[in-house]
Amino acid sequence: MSPSEPAAATGTTSPTTAEARPRVFSGVQPTGDLHLGTYLGALRQWVEHQQDRDSVFCVVDLHALTIPEEIDPQRLREDVRRVMALYLAVGLDPERNVIFAQSHLHEHAELTWLLNCVTPLGWLYRMTQFKAKSEGRESVGTGLLDYPVLQAADILLYDTNVVPVGDDQRQHIELTRDIAVRFNHLFGEVFVLPEAAVPEVGARIMGLDEPTVKMSKSVARQRAGHAVNLLDDERTVRKAIMSAVTDSGREVRFEHASPGVRNLLTILQTLDGRPMDAIVAEFEGKGYGDLKKAVAGVVLDALRPIRERFDAIMAEPGGVDELLAAGAERARAIAAPTLSRVKEAMGVG
Ligand code: TYM
Repeated sequence: MSPSEPAAATGTTSPTTAEARPRVFSGVQPTGDLHLGTYLGALRQWVEHQQDRDSVFCVVDLHALTIPEEIDPQRLREDVRRVMALYLAVGLDPERNVIFAQSHLHEHAELTWLLNCVTPLGWLYRMTQFKAKSEGRESVGTGLLDYPVLQAADILLYDTNVVPVGDDQRQHIELTRDIAVRFNHLFGEVFVLPEAAVPEVGARIMGLDEPTVKMSKSVARQRAGHAVNLLDDERTVRKAIMSAVTDSGREVRFEHASPGVRNLLTILQTLDGRPMDAIVAEFEGKGYGDLKKAVAGVVLDALRPIRERFDAIMAEPGGVDELLAAGAERARAIAAPTLSRVKEAMGVG
């Protein structure tokens, strides 16, 4: 995997120096366990670059409140702990990185309000995720529309240079830049301008049962076989992959492949690491059944240690909660001064 690497700091008032490690910020919503798409599109690049970047990773639980009918308070609290444990299980080091839960800091919600006041409504109505998520709903909460402003607050609070995300988040990062530019124009150079880092391979893993739509948590909750969850048992993983939708062809190739075959080859490539040509050559003369077996093999190899580490972390009494508390304190040390800068610039507080 080789993510597109944006330059380090791009904001005119970046507090980072040329030698400083770029500040990274990213997050995942705690709406159930994470799937292979989240892992390949986002988490893997977080882990891969944790040595050379100054990273902040967040469990964005305030973002999980935008559809109130779906909130289960007890489950949400537990999901925050599980996602934190998953961050650790995939290999994020809590010493090296700042890892915390969004709602543990009031700064995120407070900056959202301040940014709301400089964000034109039209910018939010244009967001494709808002359009998709609000479609067909009788009642749409303000939070759903405002969701990307909260995301902008997450990113801008940490003077972020790089935001490693999957392809579906590009538009939200662009919006974050637009909000930052507008703010800086109105109130002076306060914010660093962030850039998205989207992996070249694996940025958009598709549903196994419907390879024309993105693998998503909401669909996975309704349909077994849509996704592979990181904590699924081996039988479930194998079954989902072996029943993945392909096409009526026989020969494995990437060019002109159907979306289902392309998706399987992409999953294989991200985990196997070889160039696509080499992978396709290996399957010359073989059928889709062989391809699926190979995909199931690499996925199971990747998930086994994650599942084992997750179980061990969750079995430690108090471990996750203590790490969340410590992470919140370290996050606040970065976020609070930024918020003060913003309030000072706007003449409040
Ligand atoms: P979320 O929770 O939907 O997804 C988390 C990350 O996983 C990536 N991703 C995928 N990548 C490839 N293929 C897929 N099928 C796939 N599904 C998900 C997403 O692109 C994302 O990187 N709005 C964000 C959370 C957020 C955030 C932030 C991210 C809140 N504040 C600040 C970055 C910075 C979201 O809903 O991600």
